[in-house]
This record gives sequence, structure tokens and C-alpha cells, in this order.
Amino acid sequence: MSSIARDPLGTDRVPVGPGLSMFDPMFVGIDEFGEAVFLDVVYRNLLAAGEPGGGKSGLLNLAAGTAALCDNTRLVLFDAKWVELGPWRHIADEFVGRDLDHAISVLRRLVTVADNRYQWLLAHERRKVNRYDDLSVIVTIIDELAMYSTVLGTKPQQEEFESLLRGLVSLGRACGMPVIAATQRPSWDIIPASLRDLFGFRAAFRCTSLNSSNIILGQGWAEQGYNAADISPTNQGAAYLLAEGGLPRRVKAAYLSDADIYAIADYAAWLRRPTTAAFDWGMAA
Ligand SMILES: Nc1ncnc2c1ncn2[C@@H]1O[C@H](COP(=O)(O)OP(=O)(O)O)[C@@H](O)[C@H]1O
Ligand SMILES: [Mg+2]
Repeated sequence: MSSIARDPLGTDRVPVGPGLSMFDPMFVGIDEFGEAVFLDVVYRNLLAAGEPGGGKSGLLNLAAGTAALCDNTRLVLFDAKWVELGPWRHIADEFVGRDLDHAISVLRRLVTVADNRYQWLLAHERRKVNRYDDLSVIVTIIDELAMYSTVLGTKPQQEEFESLLRGLVSLGRACGMPVIAATQRPSWDIIPASLRDLFGFRAAFRCTSLNSSNIILGQGWAEQGYNAADISPTNQGAAYLLAEGGLPRRVKAAYLSDADIYAIADYAAWLRRPTTAAFDWGMAA
């Protein structure tokens, strides 16, 4: 009897995956010369900021899609608007909507995991994890960060969220737990400069003023010509991308349509389905 008839769900076959790893650079789009742009996001963290409609959620979805297709990679998602990161909810370890208590408890757990990983690194006389450690990469993606730090919940809850986030962003980069976040304008009340600077990559999508561009990239860049207020409102997905220690680079992020996103999420869910393949080989022979 064919295995298809015996096992209509195909659970006795080994899933064929794309073989991506979060330890490889992540493709984000092209630069102004048409060259592909990649980011080593696993050791850096990424903050996207800019005015509404600039393309922040698009970039976050690209990161979620990459993480979804990566081997040994888990997703933790925060999206107070539900629909931006919602397509990935079925494969995420946690999906947080408009609930600050939930957000705080998930962050607290992530910080504990990070802390345990550092104890493990210490015991192994190492300072950061690498791809051969076989620890999962846990990618935390937060859209509209300001919803959690300034809108939902009470002031003490918002402060707790912010201090836990600061803990995760500073701890995560060496233990395979990168944070990718988006916010409209990282002014001091939403993201203080000290938290902003913990993000090794910053993408400034279109801004309305030179000052906003500087708040995202850092003081003085706009005066040197790297001004996200120069990006045309019709050029969505265009941004200045700054890697710590480098010069901002003009990029255009790759774009996934809603249909692309749901198709990738479905494929990723299929890849990640529980499979009994390893136990079935004897029977199938
Ligand atoms: N990389 C891109 N290339 C082309 N169009 C894009 C790109 N990113 C976003 N867009 C367009 O801009 C719209 C708003 O993008 P979105 O990511 O939702 O912005 P934001 O999250 O900054 O408000 C999208 O619906 C899409 O039509
Ligand atoms: Mg958005």
C-alpha cells in the first residue's frame, strides 16, 4: 500500500525545508546601487522607525518570514494591531495583542531564558552562543512599541515593560535572542536614547522632520546628508539603515504582499508540524 493511502496527512515523510539559519545574514532588500543588503541580525537587534505608512511593518514581516523559515528558530510576537504580525501567530511560541499584563509576563520569561543561557555560557567558558551550540534562536518582534510603552495599561506597568525590554535587548544579542522592533518616532518618552543605542541596526523610514530622522539614527547624521525626511512619501519601504560603527546606507526593503505572507506562514507551519517520520521508517520499509 502506498504511504499516501496509509497516511493521508503525510506525517511519515521528512519535511523538506529551505535550510535557512538565523545565524546567516538576513536579506532585507537592495541598496541604491541595486546590490542586495543583508543584516547579521542575530547578534545586533534591529529598530525600525518613521512616520505611519513608511514601511516599518513591511520590514518586520520580512524578518518574521525569514525567522519562520529558519531551522531551530522560535518566534515571540507583540502586535497591538493584531493584523501586522497575526499571520505568524500559529507558529509563534507567544503572540501578544493588546494586553500589557501578557506582554510583561512574556518579557519576564524571555529575560529569565536569557539569564539561564548566560549561566550556561559561563559554565562553558564562553561569551556568546553560535550556530553549533544547537540552542534555538528566539526572535522577538514588536510592532508599534509605543502602544506598550505609552498607551496600554498603567504608568507602573509601562515602566515595567520598558525596563524588561531594556533587559532583553541588552542581554539577548549574545545568547541568540535578538529583538526586532518598530515605532513611529523614538522620542525620549517612547524610547530613550540609551535604549535606542542598544539596537545595533536602526532603519529610519520616511520622517517628517530632520529632527525626527536624527532621533532615529543619532544626532548629527541628517546634517551630513543622511536625512530620512528627504525620502519621498510615495517611496514606501525606502529607509536609511545604520549599522553600529558604520555610515547610514540608503536601502529599499523587499516587500511581501498579504498573499505572500500568508503563503509563507502556511508553508512554515507545514514545515514545523510535528512529524512521526523518525519512528515510522521501520514500518514503511
Ligand atoms: N518595501 C516596500 N516596497 C513597496 N511598498 C511598500 C514597502 N513597504 C511598505 N509598502 C507599502 O506601504 C504601505 C504601508 O507600509 P507599512 O509597512 O504598513 O508602514 P508602517 O508600518 O510604517 O506604517 C504598505 O501597505 C505597502 O503598500
Ligand atoms: Mg505599521
